[in-house]
Amino acid sequence: MTRSSARTRWSIAGLVLLFILVLGFTWHSLQRGTLGLSGDTSVIERLTGPQPSLMALFAHMVTGAFVTVLSVVQLAGPIRRRWPRAHRVSGRVLAVTALITGIGGLVYIALSGTVGGIPMSIAFALYGVLMIIAAIQTPRLAMAGDYERHRRWGLRLIVLGLGSWLYRLHYGLWYGTTCSLSDTLCGLAAEPDFSGLFDQINLFAFYLPYLLVLEWWLRRERQGDADRTPYARP
Ligand code: HEM
Repeated sequence: MTRSSARTRWSIAGLVLLFILVLGFTWHSLQRGTLGLSGDTSVIERLTGPQPSLMALFAHMVTGAFVTVLSVVQLAGPIRRRWPRAHRVSGRVLAVTALITGIGGLVYIALSGTVGGIPMSIAFALYGVLMIIAAIQTPRLAMAGDYERHRRWGLRLIVLGLGSWLYRLHYGLWYGTTCSLSDTLCGLAAEPDFSGLFDQINLFAFYLPYLLVLEWWLRRERQGDADRTPYARP
């Protein structure tokens, strides 16, 4: 087996694993959103505010479920190369659903605030604004034929699309680690009203560090391309 085919196999295995890992949260989001939209009041739980804001949030849960799954699909290089039409169709659905998800979340924050108060409202609103920008830029640049920038914005959209799942994953890992250490440490710095240190850090840690790593990687990639140019074009 050549090195590149081994790498392809590892990346396919990684994507399949990621797909399986996001399924639980995707299902939860789809189900809660659908039940909420159909008028089932039992899924409101701690959510508050006027009916339109609740409907906007339930709609964002349904579209957000698609965003999460399609972010994994769009990452899959083999799908992109073998079925470019499928890549384009799922990319369009991802952009539209991400736009609705961002708008739905922002409507809820504007009308109802959040359970974590002002810090959570600010962090989630910034997340929503970034998602909306990426959902507009990605298809716009593809339509303009600027495929380099389209790819970069597409990757930003994918990172943001996985953010909501990463937010929950961080909590799972935190509780898993602290609770396995001791009963007194279990859930340390995580409070029911999201005022703990871990909660406050996680408000931004589920998307900002990942975006920064992506920007660093894209810059390195561009730097590598620039360094190779004299050899590629003698
Ligand atoms: C990636 C797609 C997204 C998915 C799958 C998703 C899913 C969910 C789900 C299922 C809930 C209810 C809590 C729960 O049952 O865990 C929720 C709450 C919420 N989401 Fe999203 N979401 C996504 C993106 C966004 C974005 C982009 C924003 C920002 C505009 C946002 C803002 C909110 C807000 C404000 C709440 C309510 C927080 C509270 O309890 O006060 N979400 N989301």
